[in-house]
Amino acid sequence: MSTITESPATVTSLALLDIPAIRAQFPILGEMIHGKPLVYLDNAATTQKPLAVIEAMNRYYLHTNANVHRGVHTLSQRATTEFENARRKVQHFINAAKPEEVIFVRGCTEAINLVASSYGTKFIKTGDEIVISYLEHHSNIVPWQMLCERTGALLKVIPMNDAGELDMAAYEALLSDRTKLVSVVHVSNALGTINPVATIIELAHRHGAVVLIDGAQAVPHTGVDVQALDADFYTFSSHKMYGPTGIGVLYGKKALLESMPPVQGGGDMILSVTFEKTTYNKLPYKLEAGTPAIAEAIGLGAAVDYLQGIGMAAIAAYEADLLAYGTEVLSQIPGVRLIGTAKEKAGVLSFVIENIHPHDIGTILDHDGLAVRAGHHCAQPVMDRLKVPATARASFAFYNTREEIDALAAGIRRVIEVFG
Ligand code: ALA
Repeated sequence: MSTITESPATVTSLALLDIPAIRAQFPILGEMIHGKPLVYLDNAATTQKPLAVIEAMNRYYLHTNANVHRGVHTLSQRATTEFENARRKVQHFINAAKPEEVIFVRGCTEAINLVASSYGTKFIKTGDEIVISYLEHHSNIVPWQMLCERTGALLKVIPMNDAGELDMAAYEALLSDRTKLVSVVHVSNALGTINPVATIIELAHRHGAVVLIDGAQAVPHTGVDVQALDADFYTFSSHKMYGPTGIGVLYGKKALLESMPPVQGGGDMILSVTFEKTTYNKLPYKLEAGTPAIAEAIGLGAAVDYLQGIGMAAIAAYEADLLAYGTEVLSQIPGVRLIGTAKEKAGVLSFVIENIHPHDIGTILDHDGLAVRAGHHCAQPVMDRLKVPATARASFAFYNTREEIDALAAGIRRVIEVFG
């Protein structure tokens, strides 16, 4: 991963990552699929959950369950403390300056939509420009298109080259005083490209534009420091970082979040309500209407503890080794073409095989217990740009091994044999 985004954690040597012990923490990795050991290589879609996360959520339901911020009784106070502790864990994980800069939402998609609906509707006007990139997931395209339709703003797209790298000169040329917002993915889910987000942010700031970074595929793989990046907004999902589904994070600089009107009204987001007038609560509650995903927040907090216990720098180093090994092994298989060959990449191997549809690849690999994703990966513009209808995608986590990559290679050779 790029050094600019690394937290100051010490890089642990690969030998220090005890993979058998780590795998033992993920019971699902022992599943048999069609009589074969599961080889789970669909981590960009969702990661598996360690016992620490599962048990934290069980403990909450067995011993703590109550609503937060509302009760004077012991359970409610316990639940509130655990919920707010989870927020602080996330704050420290991404080095946000204040806990109230961490807004709990349903996931990365909801976080981006919240910024588009709230900040965007208030501050983006007709003729303003919003810059995104060719590498975006649909969740970082469609909310901005919807905002442009509502406001008459214009969407500009940073082009990319055949390797799946953004054209930074073209990006600079797109920026002007009309640029009000830049929203770019940190790590591409479809190709694994790591974007130079620190530079993207710095250039946008020179023009006074606010920057959102979609970090869904970055946060599980590398240390992220939102203050060092100077990101205005940074978004991610818990379920891609070994936590539960149903919760994610919108990080925003406090002054920006303060300026944003709530999009949803209801409980917890108010200070007082009369039929004449409602006064909103302070951050973060103003943007968290209704009972939040309490168990999920606690599960996310446990995932943060778990990741920090291993060390993000050690995870990044181990996954870089897996990626290098996987790239070499797959490149040697005749007929296999890697899609996405950026110099800076995270652990994603998207590939096509001549004359075989990716869905057939995925289905046949599944018979061997190999879980990969096949399709456009919710990034149709990436596929269009690289002139492929879809790819098969293996995406790695730190519990994967070189032996599993060998199993993938053997599976791909069988796919090629089947299709003769
Ligand atoms: N965005 C997720 C993926 O890339 C679902 O698979």
